Amino acid sequence: MDNGNTAQSISRLFADLRKEMDRYVIGHDIVKHGLLLGLMAREHIYIEGPPGMAKTMLAEIVSTASNLKFYLYQFHRDTRLAELVGDIVIERERTGKDGSSEIIAQSIRKGGVLTAELCVLDDISRSPGEALNVLLRVLNEREFQTEKIPLLTAIATSNPTADDYYNEPLDPANLDRFTIQIRSAGLIQENRWDQVREVMDLYSNSQFSEEVRPEPVLNRKIFDDAYALMHQVEIPGIVKRGLVDLLSRFVNQFKLDPTNSLITDRSFLVKTIKILKAQALLAGRMKVTPDDLSVMTYLTTFRVPEEIDRNMPALIKETAQRVAE
Ligand SMILES: Nc1ncnc2c1ncn2[C@@H]1O[C@H](COP(=O)(O)OP(=O)(O)O)[C@@H](O)[C@H]1O
Ligand SMILES: [Mg+2]
Repeated sequence: MDNGNTAQSISRLFADLRKEMDRYVIGHDIVKHGLLLGLMAREHIYIEGPPGMAKTMLAEIVSTASNLKFYLYQFHRDTRLAELVGDIVIERERTGKDGSSEIIAQSIRKGGVLTAELCVLDDISRSPGEALNVLLRVLNEREFQTEKIPLLTAIATSNPTADDYYNEPLDPANLDRFTIQIRSAGLIQENRWDQVREVMDLYSNSQFSEEVRPEPVLNRKIFDDAYALMHQVEIPGIVKRGLVDLLSRFVNQFKLDPTNSLITDRSFLVKTIKILKAQALLAGRMKVTPDDLSVMTYLTTFRVPEEIDRNMPALIKETAQRVAE
């Protein structure tokens, strides 16, 4: 590449972004890594977890540190579509002195979602369904009223919806717009006592400042270089065999079908390939390895039944070993 950005330099730059997250947020490796994958691959990211586990904080850190044009919107019960994509403005202009002739022009005042490169949709499940359907279609097509939008990635956060009166679960078709899906919990809930102590240390340090001010470590050029390079990453036959093996077990062994899962060719063939490449490039490689199949857990989260998703890491590991033999 003309500017000399190689797999190694891209890997280091994204590692800098990871460092900015690590400066302020302890633990949550899976969430942090999922953010890097989605940002590099220009795919949308959905993070579900209980209040107070630093979802919003992480989304804000990557927004600032990515140095892209970003827009953060906090959803609420009365969210209207117009707040996100903009309002139609009708302008009247009188031309004659007596007001005889009138020009009526219609234009659209663009909302944040139509102008941002990175969009944070905070607490997305607080919003009423009608606004969401249109919004998510815009996100998916990266287009509004036939006009392309500059959006690279949207990061949505949500509380678990099951037993919360104020939240409405996103329906599976809407969730499917988010390639990267993450289910997480707080450090206390997850029994991560070392990390719990680290948070306490961080906040009890007298040097500690409440201000979160990440360094702008990336920029649009780096994202463009990374994306171009990512497409050149090689996927060897052994990895493809592993992927086919896993997918055939979904259907034949676990009996996943449209009634219990969302196993689409788009997600599990097209998107998975992209995420595998992003995973290799994040590691500074131009070639995917069987171990990279571990990223499939980011796709299965809400697309397969929870008990099968829980077994995914073990299943993937076993498959990676078998094809490598
Ligand atoms: N793992 C963590 N490391 C550091 N600080 C944390 C962690 N978890 C929570 N916090 C603190 O709790 C606050 C709550 O985070 P917030 O992003 O509002 O949570 P959420 O959006 O998940 O409800 C953060 O701003 C941070 O001060
Ligand atoms: Mg929040």
